[in-house]
Amino acid sequence: MTDLTNPKILLAITGGIAAYKSAVLARLLIKAGCSVRVMMTQAACEFVTPLTFQALTGQAVHTELLDETAELGMGHIELAKWADVVVIAPASANTIGKLAAGLADNLLTTVCLATNAPILLAPAMNQQMWSNAIVQDNLAKLQKFGYHIISPDSGEQACGDVGAGRLPEPEQLCEQILHFLTTQNTAQTLAGKTVIITAGATLEPIDPVRFLSNHSSGKMGFALAKACHDAGATVSLIAGRRVALQTPFGVERIDVGTADEMLAACQAKMRDDEQMIFIATAAVADFKMANIASQKIKKTAGSDGLTLELIKNPDILATISEQFPNAFMIGFAAETQDGETYAQNKLDAKNLDMIAVNDVSDSSIGFGSDDNAMTVFFAKKYARSKVQLPKAPKATIAKQLVSCIAMLTTKLNLI
Ligand SMILES: Cc1cc2nc3c(=O)[nH]c(=O)nc-3n(C[C@H](O)[C@H](O)[C@H](O)COP(=O)(O)O)c2cc1C
Repeated sequence: MTDLTNPKILLAITGGIAAYKSAVLARLLIKAGCSVRVMMTQAACEFVTPLTFQALTGQAVHTELLDETAELGMGHIELAKWADVVVIAPASANTIGKLAAGLADNLLTTVCLATNAPILLAPAMNQQMWSNAIVQDNLAKLQKFGYHIISPDSGEQACGDVGAGRLPEPEQLCEQILHFLTTQNTAQTLAGKTVIITAGATLEPIDPVRFLSNHSSGKMGFALAKACHDAGATVSLIAGRRVALQTPFGVERIDVGTADEMLAACQAKMRDDEQMIFIATAAVADFKMANIASQKIKKTAGSDGLTLELIKNPDILATISEQFPNAFMIGFAAETQDGETYAQNKLDAKNLDMIAVNDVSDSSIGFGSDDNAMTVFFAKKYARSKVQLPKAPKATIAKQLVSCIAMLTTKLNLI
């Protein structure tokens, strides 16, 4: 089991023009808490010097198969055993060919044959080379043998061509590597499930420049989206437009404004089967304007004040629950008083499987904060009625909620 607080990453660099991006990647991985060691092919050393990586990682860079400084002169075996994961970025067409042929004629190819660790390979080359059938055949072969391929980006290339074959940006690569490590070390309890999550605040226009909204940051929904995806689910995140958070890697994000738009986006994504899980964390406005003013409302519109006529918004959770009765439904309730009674009523009235209640009158948890604490209530058909999740970072609470969902959706009783 990899220590996810300090994973050991062996970064392998081959001779491609994108080798400069690997310097930023090494830095980002270290910043994210990884231990990074670097090995380079001779061609890679023509593009970026080993000194750059030595300075960035604080470690000697490995370039030679015959390493007299290594214990027993077998540096390749030491490196192969040290790594939790080997990341080849960029991976040249040449090295891909050698690996597919099972060659071991330099340090990199020898380590790849000698290691037990998973190997992530990020091809980067000219678009014509990328579309060459031999390269594609080699990649398919490597995939068959367990290599994990990081797809290249499309766009303008260093040689002036436009097309597929660009190395993804270091930030994206870093995210993919960290996500890979997480999934490798997280039980895939939601594999095969599709999760739709709403998050953040809706926004109800008053006139062309003003709107009604609330303080929801979307943090809990985004943390849940990541936790569900890490547990193997396919996740769509339907987010209020003002949520200023980075979308978790691998999660589809759909930005919406009003409650009506949020409902329509949910309906478009839902299916009525037992593999669907619907999680409603969004703080949806209960009311919207009866008529949105087509022009900016002037200060002079009312003498001493202004009355806005509001009408009820659709209840997204209740509507989805009614339209998709086979889906597993989870509600959230942010309450300032009497949370338990309200939660029990909502659980029954909306036919939910689970409801998570937090007390937003405590400003150290809930809206905008990084921590949360909640009580989770379960529908009567389950063996246990509730579970208390004490104050913890939202990422931790999200993982605990995923455990609850996994146990209920796999029809196990909560311990
Ligand atoms: C300026 C220049 C840029 C190159 N860029 C790439 C590249 O992006 N991808 C690639 O597969 N090969 C590229 N090559 C060719 C490789 O450097 C060459 O195939 C080399 O043998 C790769 O060796 P290696 O796989 O051992 O690192 C480039 C060559 C030159 C001269």
